[in-house]
Amino acid sequence: MYPIIRNRRLRASAAMRNLVRETILTPHDFLVPLFVTEGKGVREEIPSMPGYYRLSLDQLAAEVNELWNMNLQAVLLFVKVPDNLKDNEGTEALNPDGLMQRAIKEVKNAQPGMLVMTDVALDPFSSYGHDGIVADGKILNDETNEVLAAMSVSHAAAGADVVAPSDMMDGRILSIREALEDEGFIDTAIMSYSAKYASSFYGPFRDALDSAPGFGDKKTYQMDPANRFEAIKETQMDIDEGADIVMVKPGLAYLDIVREIRNEVDVPVAVYQVSGEYAMLKAAAAQGWLDHDAVMLEQLTSIKRAGANIIASYFAKEAVRLLS
Ligand code: PBG
Repeated sequence: MYPIIRNRRLRASAAMRNLVRETILTPHDFLVPLFVTEGKGVREEIPSMPGYYRLSLDQLAAEVNELWNMNLQAVLLFVKVPDNLKDNEGTEALNPDGLMQRAIKEVKNAQPGMLVMTDVALDPFSSYGHDGIVADGKILNDETNEVLAAMSVSHAAAGADVVAPSDMMDGRILSIREALEDEGFIDTAIMSYSAKYASSFYGPFRDALDSAPGFGDKKTYQMDPANRFEAIKETQMDIDEGADIVMVKPGLAYLDIVREIRNEVDVPVAVYQVSGEYAMLKAAAAQGWLDHDAVMLEQLTSIKRAGANIIASYFAKEAVRLLS
């Protein structure tokens, strides 16, 4: 009780604050999203994500080596698929020589130790921009799961360490796990986007991949931002179906969910600080309204404090540079 206890004693100097700090970011916390595109020598900035680029395959090795030298040891791959290769079933996703499959090999060639995770969802391959096969304006669940399972096997065959289904179909984790086991990929892990909300924070990402839904929205499969109990149910089900790592997405607006899930489950919890969160800070900082670096580290620290064991973030490189 005051004055016997004065909390400010533990804040009195930098050395004391360093000593008692509860949450410390390290490079190993991060998962780095990479956007891959066709072409040669391509390094194009995404307009709504200043400072973030789409890279062609020949640019990947240099990027991956740079990350590795910064102790960033995990990447999450996304591909931008040319329009003429898109269809309703996401057929191109299964092409053994598709952009994703080539990207996986490129990263592994450049840096065999780099952990390669791949986005598993139909939207970048879908002529409708949806995460599932469309029929009569609806997103088919079980038919989509078959494609997701085949896609996961294809990524594993190309060398992916972890497949990361981001679609929110029911039962897809079990479909994927069974397919991987059947094909002998027993060591390929699954990071499930288990509590993924139907969020408006994904806008810049859809610009990056040209993957915005052509009709409607994603509310029949992604979660209602108003729900909390449902996030626990979704996450628990994915763990029961074989998810090795679970995820909450987006980050900052959903840290209550992160803490809830961290308290509830016993597998690693990832948080995806999404494109809109990145864009907001870049925009405010460009106006001179926020201190970019300070706010960035505050946000990332808050995500970890909330319970994230893994943080997927477009700020990973910038943050690690500041930490070292
Ligand atoms: C695709 C996918 C999305 C994101 C990751 N995987 C977009 C969506 O669901 O519409 C969003 C990532 C971001 O905004 O940074 N299924």
